[in-house]
Amino acid sequence: MDSIPLVHNKNIVLGVCGGIAAYKVADLASKLTQAGAQVDVILTESATKFVGPVTFAAVTGRSALTTDDLWRHDQHVPHVQLGEKADLLIIAPATANTLAKLAHGQADNLLTVTALAARCPIMVVPAMDGGMWSNAATQANVSILRERGFHFVGPALGRMASGLIGEGRMVEPSEILGFARVVLGAKGPLAGRKIVVSAGGTHEAIDPVRFIGNRSSGKQGFAIAQAAIDRGAEVTLIVGAVTLPTPYGAQRIDVESAQPMCEAVVAACREADALIMAAAVADFQAAHLADHKIKKTRDTVEFEVHLTRTPDILQAVKEQKESIGKPQITIGFAAETQNLIDHALAKLHAKGLDLIVANDVSATDAGFAVDTNRVTFIGAGGGVEPLALMSKAQVAERVLDRLIKLLG
Ligand code: PMT
Repeated sequence: MDSIPLVHNKNIVLGVCGGIAAYKVADLASKLTQAGAQVDVILTESATKFVGPVTFAAVTGRSALTTDDLWRHDQHVPHVQLGEKADLLIIAPATANTLAKLAHGQADNLLTVTALAARCPIMVVPAMDGGMWSNAATQANVSILRERGFHFVGPALGRMASGLIGEGRMVEPSEILGFARVVLGAKGPLAGRKIVVSAGGTHEAIDPVRFIGNRSSGKQGFAIAQAAIDRGAEVTLIVGAVTLPTPYGAQRIDVESAQPMCEAVVAACREADALIMAAAVADFQAAHLADHKIKKTRDTVEFEVHLTRTPDILQAVKEQKESIGKPQITIGFAAETQNLIDHALAKLHAKGLDLIVANDVSATDAGFAVDTNRVTFIGAGGGVEPLALMSKAQVAERVLDRLIKLLG
């Protein structure tokens, strides 16, 4: 996993309680560490029955703490130090017992005493048997904690350790990490801003089994959506024909072809501050959609499909912006195989963009489907900024930096 700028150098305290899901939290500790965070793990006594401190120390590179550390004579008030320096406290799995202690201010172990001392956001990831979760006492404790601003994620529906199916499973570490990004980014420079991002390629059907498509994987657009969430934005992600997992916190709208993508983008932009159009939208669609699979015969050697233009989405957004002023900022991409700057400039002006991200898609390490990209920014004022080859996540960071400047 790449370092995540939002998480890099953040102090994250990870409290682990006694539940079978504790073993999965070692993966979360590893993911947070790989993302660049300094992760201090605190285990309750019952957590150590499921997984030991050595496991967490191995994945975080720091000693994992237990309640014994509260009583060490060579450390001064460790809980206050941990609580005060933390940027985020995550409690996973959070048991019914620990939820009850947190709700009532009980502080009888290093984790609960640190939670009382903490000044940072607290994320709670419950995991327990379904009956314990739905119990009125647990639900009352959850309500108290929600009212006090604790951030809950889960529990999920599924098979629990008891063999029962119900609500009580801990959500997966990747989802916890996604939610942590939402919580850490909540006060970022795009807090309160609505950003629409399009990603992936469109499929234009010819008959019930065939389509005209392109090689877009959605990686660049999804990275942009994640970078916007990391900065606190409310993100609508309009996705054409790809199956990547949704960045936590994004509102995802799946579409198949250019026409519904156009309708979804224009509608979302009515309320939006900015649109970033990274999707590879087909320029042409079949003039007539065959009702049944087109059959070949022994004599068929040539086959013609009559094509017409798809709607130009950025053109429709430009017209909407001229009439209602929304979105304030529009950023487009240009995928080119020759005369990159000239073609991108022409699109920038024709589509009334504030910025175009020109993409030389003829290179094997940039453009469609790969994890890296090499782009050139061209602003409405004509400024040209070529960027080096970098990961799509890094390109996304740079696009968002430009967007923040454009929004002022
Ligand atoms: O998804 P990945 O595999 O990560 O690849 C990323 C990418 C190469 C798809 C992406 O970086 C990129 O370059 N996206 C734009 C691709 C494209 O369609 O470019 P274009 O030059 O054909 O279109 C110019 C702009 O007009 C684009 O912002 C496009 O979204 C938009 N457009 C295109 C056609 C259309 N009918 N309506 C549009 O609004």
